[in-house]
Amino acid sequence: MRVGFGCDHAAIDLKNELVAYMTEKGYECVDYGTNYDENGEIIKCDYPQKGQEVGEAVASKEVDYGVLICGTGIGISLSANKVPGVRAAVCSEPYSARLTKQHNDANIIAFGARVVGTELAKMILDEFFGAEFEGGRHKTRVDMIADVEAKYCK
Ligand code: RB5
Repeated sequence: MRVGFGCDHAAIDLKNELVAYMTEKGYECVDYGTNYDENGEIIKCDYPQKGQEVGEAVASKEVDYGVLICGTGIGISLSANKVPGVRAAVCSEPYSARLTKQHNDANIIAFGARVVGTELAKMILDEFFGAEFEGGRHKTRVDMIADVEAKYCK
């Protein structure tokens, strides 16, 4: 499974720790940045850029899922959710992370580096990637979300 990671300047260290964690678990991780340059300086990046970039990678199936991290997880997910086909969910704890896969068929999980610590972030990813979309009545509702999107994306 290919997982795309994106973050802004507030979340580079957490993003790098999680890329290492998920790589160790056998996921094929694609790092969309941002990162440090060769002098150790942060490569400046505003969260809407990474939300769009990873959102487009998920929507085009360049990767199967995305993980987005900014200070809160909110701004970067708002941007990703503007890309048609993206369902990005901000989850600061594991229960919501599991449910958003099972019920919402979320294809991007987001959280904040200023909100969750490294170990909690790992638990959030474990729950999200360990869960399956349940379909059935939940598919009907996810299709309704797509209908809202289609109404405004012509
Ligand atoms: C950047 O300072 C901060 O605004 C950003 O990381 C994020 O929290 C926005 O939602």
